[in-house]
Amino acid sequence: MKVLVTGGAGFVGSHTVDILLQHGHEVTVLDSFEPQVHGTVSAVPPHLAHYIAHGDIQFVQGNVENRELLKRLLEHCEAVIHLAAALGTAQSAHEPHMYCLANALGTATLMDVLLKEKTQVRKLVVASSASIYGEGCGWNPVRKVKVSPVRWAVDMQQGQWEPRDPEDGTIVEPRPITEDYPLKPTSVYALTKYFTEQVALLSGHKQEIGVICLRYTNIYGPRQSLSNPYTGPLAIFCSRFKSGKPPLVFEDGKQSRDFIHVKDVARANLLSIESSLMGAHVMNIGTGKATSLLEIIALLQEKMQVDIQPTIIQKARIGDIRHSFLDTKRAETLLGFKAQIPVHEGILDTIHALDGAYIEDKVDVALQELAQYHLITDTAGERV
Ligand code: UD1
Repeated sequence: MKVLVTGGAGFVGSHTVDILLQHGHEVTVLDSFEPQVHGTVSAVPPHLAHYIAHGDIQFVQGNVENRELLKRLLEHCEAVIHLAAALGTAQSAHEPHMYCLANALGTATLMDVLLKEKTQVRKLVVASSASIYGEGCGWNPVRKVKVSPVRWAVDMQQGQWEPRDPEDGTIVEPRPITEDYPLKPTSVYALTKYFTEQVALLSGHKQEIGVICLRYTNIYGPRQSLSNPYTGPLAIFCSRFKSGKPPLVFEDGKQSRDFIHVKDVARANLLSIESSLMGAHVMNIGTGKATSLLEIIALLQEKMQVDIQPTIIQKARIGDIRHSFLDTKRAETLLGFKAQIPVHEGILDTIHALDGAYIEDKVDVALQELAQYHLITDTAGERV
């Protein structure tokens, strides 16, 4: 199949290109080489340079918002995997325009071209996000019901981080989130991902294109940017340890996420374009297991053999959620997809990839940026 991968030079994109080529697909990569991800010396990453040198892929540098470019690239494609996006829940709070432009307008442009131009595209896979569920699903042990929990400002100010049932104030226990759960984005990033998937579902459906929106959880693995202070915590913690510095941990470190290895995600993308599903679908792509940040740090300390202790800053980033892990049965039924790499194994090639990698630690700069825009709470009851 002839596949266009937007954001194909990025973290998820590059692994997706690997697996597509392994399965005999013809790949075109469109990527803007965003300096925040790729660094200011915007050289083609080695894995991609290898493919270009061997004529394995067609590579085009550019933006998804560039209508004419997209039109030209889509003329000969049968499938699109749309991964190009700005990413970072925290940064989106002070860069709403940039996030709306890259994620919302970028996807709207893609759908517009698919709608108005003659293409052979019959399958579209879109990168959505578990962040659109917001605080997700909680179990109230008193009322014995599942609820959409909330975090109260007064709790956050006092360092009580766990979400509550808005009905009776009981602290809830996290539960896996199913696809039919109410969507309640708590960050601009999540809102733009919500728009991304909904615009693809609504306008793709009308064009008789099979649209599959994959709601990924926290992705980690080799090639994740080690210099982007707004990337996933696992990569940031690796960079900090490698630079001999303590990871900075917001809240108390007991917040949890469903960490999925990038190779599992790439396989989900492959299965999606190869599936015979038509119509519009949303699917959770995660492991179904929650791991706290403190557990991740303990794993990294053990495997990297460092005894640097994290700095637990007991402050929250505005817009962060507390717990998130997904129910993954739908993807298993419809795609035959099940994540295969547990985090204690996946962390090994992630650490291995740190050897010789370029690392520029900008975590302190990001922290100052968040404070400047009043996007961090403090326990004295004020936003700092
Ligand atoms: C993440 C992804 C998002 C994905 C979503 C799916 C990133 C940047 N975000 O958002 O793309 O769609 O999961 O659920 O990959 N933290 C620290 N110290 C740090 C960095 C982070 O303590 O240096 C904490 C945060 O405060 C937060 C947790 O780690 O509590 C996760 O942060 P992050 O991955 O940025 O946010 P998610 O909402 O999980």
